[in-house]
Amino acid sequence: MSATQTAEGIRTRLWIGNEWVDAQRGGTFATTNPATEEVIAEVAEARAEDIDRAVQAARAAFADSRWRRMNPHKRSRLLWKLADLVDANADELGLLETQDNGKPYFEARRIDVPSVAQTLRYYAGLADKVQGDTVPVPGPFLNYTLREPVGVVGAIIPWNFPLSMAAWKVAPALACGNTVVLKPAEETPLTALRLGELAAEAGFPAGVLNVVPGFGETAGAALVRHPGVDAISFTGSTEVGKVIMREAADTLKKVSLELGGKSPNIVFADADLRGALKGASSGIFYGKGEVCAAGSRILVESRIHDEFVAGLQAGAARATVGDPMDPSTRLGAIVSEAQLDRVMGYIEAGRRDGACLVAGGERTRVNGRGHFVNATVFRDVDPEMSIAREEIFGPVAAVIPFDDVDDAIRKANDSLYGLAAGVWTRDIGKAHRLAGAIDAGTVWVNTYNQYSPASPFGGYKQSGFGRDLGFHSALEKYTHLKSVWVALDG
Ligand code: NAI
Ligand code: MG
Repeated sequence: MSATQTAEGIRTRLWIGNEWVDAQRGGTFATTNPATEEVIAEVAEARAEDIDRAVQAARAAFADSRWRRMNPHKRSRLLWKLADLVDANADELGLLETQDNGKPYFEARRIDVPSVAQTLRYYAGLADKVQGDTVPVPGPFLNYTLREPVGVVGAIIPWNFPLSMAAWKVAPALACGNTVVLKPAEETPLTALRLGELAAEAGFPAGVLNVVPGFGETAGAALVRHPGVDAISFTGSTEVGKVIMREAADTLKKVSLELGGKSPNIVFADADLRGALKGASSGIFYGKGEVCAAGSRILVESRIHDEFVAGLQAGAARATVGDPMDPSTRLGAIVSEAQLDRVMGYIEAGRRDGACLVAGGERTRVNGRGHFVNATVFRDVDPEMSIAREEIFGPVAAVIPFDDVDDAIRKANDSLYGLAAGVWTRDIGKAHRLAGAIDAGTVWVNTYNQYSPASPFGGYKQSGFGRDLGFHSALEKYTHLKSVWVALDG
């Protein structure tokens, strides 16, 4: 990163119009490594006036011919080039992600970063396929539709998969000819800044992608309110999603929200239990459970319940907590002390409410420092308890027994959320019945946590609306559909 090493340490600036600039008020905030509690960098803090500057840069880049009128094959090549640069800098990006977020380096380097390159390449393929239809209207008219970019897209993203979330928003928005102001989470701003710089290296014109780290209530809110922003694409908490929807009403922005979840992972007695056990464990412990689609409610058919819980306990014991740089580590550091406090608060609530803690539940340190908690499993969880209803966003599984298919469906849908679900059974009819009956944007059958840029991802109910990824969903989100009528008898 073109960060400057000063006497006080590393400093980074805002990325606006393909240049590093200081925040106008000169403010900065520290980003820390949650595994060591050390400050990684002082980051320039965007406030309303900096957001305005970034939006103006993005508007200028949208208004003239430099981006939306660029030959789409060239836009495609630029996205592909950016993917190549992500690959070429994968070690550095993986390391920055691990330092900022606390996730194991092998996850950041082997899973997150390659998926970012893949997403960019997928949408490189969309750039020259944004097209409308001719429509068979009656009468002496030619009617056709045009797919046009929405304009300036404000992307606000969370800290759990910082670079992946940036790619999920930026790649389709840019492919469709929009320009972007990206507001990364205050906990994890570094990889997004580096992505902005790599985009310039790839040859993206100035103002096409701007990256403005800052806090939600200031930088994020200013982006949502700004009249020069046409659409907001948000991933984060349901609470903030509701605020954004209200705040965006004044300027009637196009809003899409990918919010929280409390996803059920449903295990039937007729499943391949070894596979189900692996899927249920990794479904909640992967990424420290800081995954919007985490399978945090494990619904288990009563007659295999005790055996399955014993397996989950063993799985939790194998989820080694440790230094994120150590290849044997499975659970890295929780992103921040505040987030660890939230997780511990839920573990306390589970105990108080009478759920039975059978694994984990303890805050730990690694080499005497950092914010860690071990893989936690509660059994005998009543569906009314807060650990069964609220998003914890940590490695905490709530196991809930069910009796039959109808009971499973009822319990699965007994949630304000509807982001994802897993179903484990060898009965193909049952699997498809569940896939149809569960109110969730994604259903995984005999697998969990599968993602592809080709497949849409997003929520039902209070998990939000709009879809990330996919072909048609990107067009819906990042383009307007214009209808053109031409009289043929004139
Ligand atoms: P958050 O929703 O506050 O933060 C997500 C993003 O929104 C960040 O970039 C933040 O700066 C921004 N933001 C916050 N307030 C804003 C506002 N008023 N206007 C515009 N932007 C705003 O999430 P937070 O506080 O980091 O985590 C709290 C809980 O939210 C977590 O424990 C978890 O349950 C949930 N969460 C869910 C995520 C998901 O992917 N579904 C991601 C992150 C958090
Ligand atoms: Mg917040």
